[in-house]
Amino acid sequence: MTAATLTGKDLAAAIRAETAARAAEGPRPRLAVVVATADEASLWYVRSIAKAATGAGIACDLVDLGPEAAPAHVGETLERLSGDPSVHGVLLQTPLPAGASAQELAGAIDPAKDVDGANPLSLGRLAAGLPAFAPATAAAVMALLDHHGVELAGRRAVVVGRSTVVGKPLAHLLLDRDATVTVCHSRTRDLASVTSQADVLVAAAGRAGLIGAAHVAPGAVVIDVGTNPTPDGGLTGDVDAGAVRDVAGGLSPVPGGVGPVTTALLLRHTLEAARRA
Ligand SMILES: NC(=O)c1ccc[n+]([C@@H]2O[C@H](COP(=O)([O-])OP(=O)(O)OC[C@H]3O[C@@H](n4cnc5c(N)ncnc54)[C@H](OP(=O)(O)O)[C@@H]3O)[C@@H](O)[C@H]2O)c1
Repeated sequence: MTAATLTGKDLAAAIRAETAARAAEGPRPRLAVVVATADEASLWYVRSIAKAATGAGIACDLVDLGPEAAPAHVGETLERLSGDPSVHGVLLQTPLPAGASAQELAGAIDPAKDVDGANPLSLGRLAAGLPAFAPATAAAVMALLDHHGVELAGRRAVVVGRSTVVGKPLAHLLLDRDATVTVCHSRTRDLASVTSQADVLVAAAGRAGLIGAAHVAPGAVVIDVGTNPTPDGGLTGDVDAGAVRDVAGGLSPVPGGVGPVTTALLLRHTLEAARRA
């Protein structure tokens, strides 16, 4: 078997185009991205968000506090932006300066503007089945599954990773769609025995090549969230694509799978926040 490639590029382009068309009806949505790092990969990502936002008719302010910013200053900035009626979406980029907790600080983001679902209140609402912005990456996995017509109700979904930005919110979103959900982590014993039960397997561990052929049931759908830097400056996923492609029914590529959909959904969330304001 050769797995179908579950690309995210066409879906991302469609979301961006739809968002741009709605944004053009005005008033113009505005996203503020708070940055307090010198991490080059993170700054590259932020610039790519800004470029995509501009392309979709969304204003994007980069609020760069510098890598030495005091946690209190980051928190005050998030509060100020949350209270600014001209700003519709607020994003806190990680990593943060030493001693700053992203989860603690994200509590300062107004949930109505929390377009990347970072405030713990947003995760709580999601867990309770109440309307909230889901973290864009978790939402992107769901959008990618829907786009490729993957059935979820009654099926076994296994998520590898339990972070508050990806694994946990994704588990709630899958549960909400009536999948039978298992969440694995670094203390899971015999990972392959669990993941090979999955109809839908999502790898979000940040470990290059963690998921091999033995981890995947024949015909399963595999979504690779991992983005691990390679020595040549590229990106590779958590899935050993060369091996898994021969077993899985579908596999999302890295790059070109979850990543572009994540950025597109951040823009859609910002538009939705603006229209509700
Ligand atoms: N494409 C995108 O848009 C996008 C967005 C966000 C993140 N990502 C990528 O997604 C990956 C995960 O991100 P994250 O922020 O969730 O990472 P994270 O906070 O480091 O969490 C990683 C999770 O994976 C688990 N894990 C680590 N090694 C494992 C192993 N050997 N076996 C089983 N589980 C293991 C950890 O378990 P413990 O809890 O036990 O430590 C943890 O729950 C990263 O590669 C990140 O770059 C991609």
